[in-house]
Amino acid sequence: MSAEAPRLRLGSAAPNFKALTTKGEIDFYSWAGESWVILFSHPDDFTPVCTTELGAFSKLEPEFTKRNVKLIGLSANSLNSHEEWIKDINEVAQTSLQFPIIADADRQISFLYDMLDYQDVTNRDKKGLPFTIRSVFIIDPKRTIRLILTYPASTGRNAQEVLRVVDSLQATDKYKVATPINWVPGDDVVVAASVSNEEAATLFPGYKAVKPYLRLTPLAKEKILPA
Ligand code: BEZ
Repeated sequence: MSAEAPRLRLGSAAPNFKALTTKGEIDFYSWAGESWVILFSHPDDFTPVCTTELGAFSKLEPEFTKRNVKLIGLSANSLNSHEEWIKDINEVAQTSLQFPIIADADRQISFLYDMLDYQDVTNRDKKGLPFTIRSVFIIDPKRTIRLILTYPASTGRNAQEVLRVVDSLQATDKYKVATPINWVPGDDVVVAASVSNEEAATLFPGYKAVKPYLRLTPLAKEKILPA
């Protein structure tokens, strides 16, 4: 390991890696195939917030699957620990967790994706080594990083928000639009700034110009969500 973790930004190529997971050994790219991927880390197994998060992601997994998105978790715990903890997650959340969780006890992948906690001295193992923070990477089928979220150990994430971002990314890849604040599928979208008014009149007949730079148009749920 070098001293500095690689700098991953929006648009960076997601680094490939080999990993030990609860579903066997994987080569990340081969496992991802042609799918989108949510790669997300949690600080530690058998902890309360993490248990609620993994339960929520498990319950929402069918919605991710419909959108061609694979989930994969990660923490710096052992495989045996993950396997025991999954039983608790399933019991607490009344679910059946199916996605793989990476056992990154040596922190190779956490380092590669800059997931280690450098600021919270309580988020460490018994040897004083940092655990991971709550990172989320959304990676598209071309292996490009499209979203990075970083939450501290004390703050649980919102699985619905991660799904909402997938919907936005997939909609804005397909149509010349952007999605405004608090958008959810079915709400009006913003006509992309790159689209001239002439082109907008053809692509989005009847679009509404609230300001010359803020042009809204409906986009039906059925045009972006799988049936
Ligand atoms: C939790 O999941 O509750 C947690 C894990 C590590 C540090 C703080 C909270």
